[in-house]
Amino acid sequence: MPFIQTCLRATAGLCLTVAVLVPAWAAERLPNVTILATGGTIAGTGASSTTTVGYSAAKLGVEKLIASVPELQKVANVRGEQVFQIASENMNNDYWLKLAKRVNTLLAQEDVDGVVITHGTDTIEETGYFLDLVVKSQKPVVIVGAMRPATALSADGPLNLYNAVLIAGSKEAVGKGVLVALNDQINAARDVTKANTSSPDAFRTGELGYLGYVQGGRVVFYRSPIRKHTLQSEFDISKLESLPQVDIVYGYANMNRIALDALVAAGARGIVHAGVGNGSLANAVKPGLIEARKKGVLVVRSSRVGQGIVARNGEANDDELDFVASDTLSPQKARILLMLALTRSSDTKQIQDWFYQY
Ligand code: DGL
Repeated sequence: MPFIQTCLRATAGLCLTVAVLVPAWAAERLPNVTILATGGTIAGTGASSTTTVGYSAAKLGVEKLIASVPELQKVANVRGEQVFQIASENMNNDYWLKLAKRVNTLLAQEDVDGVVITHGTDTIEETGYFLDLVVKSQKPVVIVGAMRPATALSADGPLNLYNAVLIAGSKEAVGKGVLVALNDQINAARDVTKANTSSPDAFRTGELGYLGYVQGGRVVFYRSPIRKHTLQSEFDISKLESLPQVDIVYGYANMNRIALDALVAAGARGIVHAGVGNGSLANAVKPGLIEARKKGVLVVRSSRVGQGIVARNGEANDDELDFVASDTLSPQKARILLMLALTRSSDTKQIQDWFYQY
């Protein structure tokens, strides 16, 4: 082969290699975004276009979702995988481990710039925080859902999906941890919660605020998460096939210890107490928590309130009780951090430190 042709082929090969190795935004190429579908309302169908409640979640496959938004092809090289197909109230640890391992495998590939996960909104905040603690990449991971089924008038899924792919392919989202994006708003997985049963504007980050917005195709951030996540996290699920049982006990006026005792008897290794106020412990349940701790069950004091810090040694003497205070983590988020913490330690001081770092 003439020398000049050899050089041209080598140069072409080098350019192709560089193009794949160089991030999309640096190489002026469309980003490679993989959409992992898990079910939910975004894949839901209803009896009519006005059915926005009483529809069936988790009906449409990932290819249908991608085909329903042809505009995706203009902003990213998109490929889809159906990891599982469930209504997210049925999410469990086995699904989480499967999803997290798939995300980590994909993000380790040089030809994947970001991942979008389509998910039911009921537990999207929990899956998001779990992934925030175990994803081993700074590439964007964006979880998206919808509050109206795909068949509904003004279905919010298509634009939510388009925005999520934009974020996942953006340089702005690199290093921001796992993001939950619906209704043009960008939330940190650690802090976001579903705050309305049916409104398209259901997701809130409360006093800690949104990280940014997607507007008119622009991805704009105004702040970054401070707490440790993704590559900064010491939690690793790559070799785990199960996770410790951690349950939540909800606090309320006139409560009792029946549920707590049953959960401990069933083998819970951790209990998160969703107390009233600043994580207050009613006299009816405090002895049960003390007995649980003596049996080796880790106890975290959280609050049902939803905003603010549950302060260590505030409403209870955590030093004396050997309990952990949840800081600003909601009960459902505190459960996730405690579950992963128990895969590495059962030392209360170490776990409290982790609640101050994550
Ligand atoms: N069954 C609920 C879920 O899959 C529907 C809510 C939704 O996805 O918006 O989370």
